[in-house]
Amino acid sequence: MGKYLVTGGAGYVGSVVAAHLLEAGHQVTVLDDLSTGFAAGVPEGAEFVRGRIQDAGEVLD
Ligand SMILES: NC(=O)c1ccc[n+]([C@@H]2O[C@H](COP(=O)([O-])OP(=O)(O)OC[C@H]3O[C@@H](n4cnc5c(N)ncnc54)[C@H](O)[C@@H]3O)[C@@H](O)[C@H]2O)c1
Repeated sequence: MGKYLVTGGAGYVGSVVAAHLLEAGHQVTVLDDLSTGFAAGVPEGAEFVRGRIQDAGEVLD
């Protein structure tokens, strides 16, 4: 099992990528600022962190 960070995972492409990774048994964290995406789009089972890629160092350890 791998650990993946999917940026933009509340959006169209990212949410599908995150869902496929979860389906394959991986651990997924989604980082998204919800500027155009929706929290409801984050697939179940993914950890969701609201934040900007530019600030990733501040929101992810
Ligand atoms: N076929 C369809 O039904 C369909 C539907 C929607 C979109 N599309 C296509 O998909 C493409 C767009 O999809 P996408 O997934 O690239 O865009 P998107 O806008 O759906 O996803 C981008 C995600 O990144 C997030 N984001 C943006 N800037 C960020 C930042 N600085 N830090 C953190 N998160 C940030 C947004 O909140 C959003 O959730 C386009 O080509 C569009 O035409 C197709």
